[in-house]
Amino acid sequence: MDKIKAPKGTKDIFTPDIEKWQYLEEKIKEVFNRFYFSEIRTPIFEHTELFSRGIGDETEVVSKEMYTFKDRKERSLTLRPENTASVVRAAIENKLFDEHFPLRYYYIGPMFRYERPQKGRQRQFHQFGVEVFNDPSAEVDAEVILVAYKLLIDLGINTINVEINSVGCKNCRPDYLKLLSEKAEMESEKLCSDCQRKTKTNPLRIFDCKNKGCIEVADNLPKITDNLCQDCNTHFVKLKESLNLFEVPFFVNTRLVRGLDYYTKTAFEITSEALGSQNAILGGGRYNDLIKQLGGNEISGIGFAAGMERVILHLDKIEKKNKLKVIIVYHSENEKTASLKIAKRCWDLGLNAFIDYGAGNMKKQFKKGDRIEADFAFVIGKDEVVDSMISIKNMKTREQEKIKNEDLEKWIKKNI
Ligand code: HAM
Repeated sequence: MDKIKAPKGTKDIFTPDIEKWQYLEEKIKEVFNRFYFSEIRTPIFEHTELFSRGIGDETEVVSKEMYTFKDRKERSLTLRPENTASVVRAAIENKLFDEHFPLRYYYIGPMFRYERPQKGRQRQFHQFGVEVFNDPSAEVDAEVILVAYKLLIDLGINTINVEINSVGCKNCRPDYLKLLSEKAEMESEKLCSDCQRKTKTNPLRIFDCKNKGCIEVADNLPKITDNLCQDCNTHFVKLKESLNLFEVPFFVNTRLVRGLDYYTKTAFEITSEALGSQNAILGGGRYNDLIKQLGGNEISGIGFAAGMERVILHLDKIEKKNKLKVIIVYHSENEKTASLKIAKRCWDLGLNAFIDYGAGNMKKQFKKGDRIEADFAFVIGKDEVVDSMISIKNMKTREQEKIKNEDLEKWIKKNI
């Protein structure tokens, strides 16, 4: 029969890679807790409207990349392509907003986008991220960027660049978009057909295009940072000051517009020189209109999300926790019961213990001990059962000692 394969753009994750994932997840939790974020888990599928309304119909994500399907009652559902819209929906629905206090959430989980798979780009990928609601200050924008930066640096990833920009707000952006659209239309014949259309529908998206001709045109188009209103300008100045204060190195990239429509004011990305064409490890920004757009009150938001696969690509060596590993080796079926009791005592004491029930001879069991990289073998032979003893063999030095069965807990506490 034909073998069934995993769908294109998805991956199974198992040892040794899974250790990197677990290590990363632990670090994420540790760092986010330090910055007073609590975890939120939202459903993997949502009503399609959440994303079309939240992210924007003109974006690549909504127009081309969503996994949308009808359920048995003909409702249109979508596997989440990102999590910001879902977290906002959850906060509105569960009445989590507190007008007197900022809300801070973090999340980790799978996202789905129908993209062409390549290194660092999958159809099922994983993100971790944070969202802060109800704090409109530029200082919190800097703190969010600091958390992202610090986490990567703590993971030993230092081939990174922090890029920031301001994409304006509903007061200054319409005038800027009008100007941009006019200027882009004047260069229309140099643009790809997609960008020609965007000059009318969403000219900001021209900055996203990877086409060489479009990049050249975009380089000479008016910059948003020269067209900000007073409020956005002050916010951007304060952001840069606060980043300097937090000692986060950054540069301003006026072409940075992000791929989703909900951003206002601050937009940022952290890219890595070690990645190929998919060099964005993470991206985020402020979205002060999204909550209202999704049916909530006028509450501000800022956050980021990182691609876990892209972070993992940087983790060659991880500091493994050196937990003692033990294999229980027994002579024959006659010693099995005594060995099982010992295994149970090891597990109760928090030791990593392995016992092979269909083991075969002791030589084979020792070989398995080497394979699982056991530090010690607890050996139960005929004599050990008769004398109520346990032989302990150091698997690295091959030294042996014998202890009384009743002293096992004492030995473990001393050596663990
Ligand atoms: P995004 O830029 O679309 O932003 O995605 C964030 C990160 O997810 C990217 O920088 C990249 O590392 C990773 N990523 C995106 N697509 C893929 C893919 N197909 N395969 C692998 N990794 C991928 C957002 O999702 C926003 N929700 C971020 C945000 C949070 N803004 C405010 N709060």
